[in-house]
Amino acid sequence: MISRIRRGKFITLEGIDGAGKSTHISWLESVLRSRGKTVIVTREPGGTPVGEALRELLLDNRQVMHAETEALLMFAARREHLDKVILPAVNRGDWVISDRFTDASFAYQGGGRGLLVQKLDELERWVQGEFQPDLTFYLDVTVESGRQRTSKIKSADRFEKEQDEFFQRVREAYLERVEKFPQRIRVIDANQSLEEVKKSIEKIILSTCSG
Ligand code: TYD
Repeated sequence: MISRIRRGKFITLEGIDGAGKSTHISWLESVLRSRGKTVIVTREPGGTPVGEALRELLLDNRQVMHAETEALLMFAARREHLDKVILPAVNRGDWVISDRFTDASFAYQGGGRGLLVQKLDELERWVQGEFQPDLTFYLDVTVESGRQRTSKIKSADRFEKEQDEFFQRVREAYLERVEKFPQRIRVIDANQSLEEVKKSIEKIILSTCSG
């Protein structure tokens, strides 16, 4: 089902809401393009027509849903994303940058909502097999500074309206993922200035490009 022949690279960015992922993604895209890579920028949940429709539902703050429904919809969107966008692109030799991927499900649905990790492991195996990002940047900020950045947003979505304790659990779950996958996930201290964050990302990405 999932091809193992991979030539391009799959890079993901993660972090709690307000970590500043979006700021760095278009910049990362231009760094890679200037190195001659064909780059596709995408996001989760989303990235396909079905995925974007599921995103509407998942982020709509008027919706109330069971935590397992939420997790299943995240993975349903991901299945479509892998099939229609991610796998065809990396198999063609393109580079894909995704604003979030499966680590977000372990952080938000596992840490935040308290779902059993084993259930998420099963969904991950079902949807992805052995497929994993080549490289993940985890932009780490404290819940307080994440909150300061998102409080500027006018209407909070279904996740952004959660309490600080929720984001504290999300952050802890991300840090557990970092401990579990130290080779793949690189932690960037996103409390630093924008320039410093860029410098840290650039150093890592350039060594990946040449590797
Ligand atoms: P986000 O990536 O923060 O987009 P924006 O910058 O437009 O707000 O929004 C996506 C939300 O979805 C975010 O709050 C985290 C959540 N999410 C999960 O809970 N689980 C997942 O598996 C994914 C991919 C995202």
